[in-house]
Amino acid sequence: MAVTSVIGLQWGDEAKGKIVDLLAADHDIVVRFQGGANAGHTVTVDGTRYKMSLIPSGILHPGVIALIGNGVVVDPIALAEEMERVRQAGVDLTAQLRISDRAHLIMPYHKAEERVHERAAGQAAIGTTLRGIGPCYQDKVGRRFSVRVGDLYRPRWLRERLSNTLDYKNRVLAALGAEERFELEPLLKQCQQWAEQMRPYVIDSVSFLHDALERGQRILFEGAQGTLLDVDHGTYPYVTSSNSSMSGVASGSGIPANRVQDVIGVVKAYTTRVGSGPFPTELHDEIGQQIRDRGNEYGTVTGRPRRCGWFDAVAARYSARICGVNRLAVTLLDVLTGLDELAICVAYVWQGKLLKTVPAHPEVLAECQPVYELHPGWQDDITTVRSVAELPVAARRYLKRIEELVGAPVSIVSVGPDRDQTIRVTPHEQALTV
Ligand code: IMP
Repeated sequence: MAVTSVIGLQWGDEAKGKIVDLLAADHDIVVRFQGGANAGHTVTVDGTRYKMSLIPSGILHPGVIALIGNGVVVDPIALAEEMERVRQAGVDLTAQLRISDRAHLIMPYHKAEERVHERAAGQAAIGTTLRGIGPCYQDKVGRRFSVRVGDLYRPRWLRERLSNTLDYKNRVLAALGAEERFELEPLLKQCQQWAEQMRPYVIDSVSFLHDALERGQRILFEGAQGTLLDVDHGTYPYVTSSNSSMSGVASGSGIPANRVQDVIGVVKAYTTRVGSGPFPTELHDEIGQQIRDRGNEYGTVTGRPRRCGWFDAVAARYSARICGVNRLAVTLLDVLTGLDELAICVAYVWQGKLLKTVPAHPEVLAECQPVYELHPGWQDDITTVRSVAELPVAARRYLKRIEELVGAPVSIVSVGPDRDQTIRVTPHEQALTV
């Protein structure tokens, strides 16, 4: 389809990078529309792992344009490092990378601010990635201090803006007990360097995308994080600072939501979460540890162990509705191999009441007890399976149940990290029904 969107339906890390990489070959442009270097996408091609944060995963396909959209917050230091890694992988950046002139920049003081805020919050800390994401989005919405990519090419404007900003930031940092201070001239010099580094790639991304659509080009939107981390729809305040659900596509790219014909919701076959916040199906036992070890559930960006738990169909359905998902990609199914029994959460109980959706308040969600439906597991290795028919019956039943509970058909199943460890569910195989 001409415009497709890949969105996580859990708390991020759903292996969206792999799904985007698979679909990118059938698209002309892959667009990131929110988040920043807090995201970690891992793509494995012929056994080699590529880690990406800011640059859309689709860049590994020659000829595909990777666009960092206006809704992304760009850390120029992280971007330069990543550009170098991608270049070394043989990618022609001049041909393939584009950066929106409307994207906002993460400045060194954003990271300093975040460190003091998280430290001061103690038990109430969000457990962020400390990449400066929250402070940068705060400044964007606050309008007084943020610097956009396009500002790098307007020296007078930049000097004036940064001068006011540093005056304020340094006073705030001092009041909060931070040791760092930021000086105007060295920062302006850095900005000059960043301007030169980015110059070949900076464009008016909004008209670029609309012109591409008019020419009949195919666009793929790559979501970062997941719907449950969305600042409006997620488990607030334990969320990221952007719209990481489908809602972010329109604001973060300038392409209206009604142009997206295909919304693929990505879910892991279980659930994980990094950082703080409620997680009703979290497992604190050896099954949780087994999933963590088998699934290598350690953060791509921060290396933190991820919290692991059973598939939460209440949360996934909530996200699927918000995103208008029309099909699902289920990833990491192979990680569940070997477990005797699997549980799926089909409702919550809170203060004796049965809840069928995600409550708004984090304290309520934290008090929810999951209602589980039990399913038999499977023992056979499925990492070499390439069609639904070859999957063990128990795995097919498990997928079928996910479809029913989440409310969309499964169209892609991932059974390992490599590109080819993938089952594309053809329409006649929709006889996932057993
Ligand atoms: P921030 O995005 O760095 O502000 O972090 C806010 C919350 O989102 C924290 O709980 C992070 O662990 C989580 N988070 C941010 N990016 C990702 C991601 O790519 N995957 C999973 N969790 C993430």
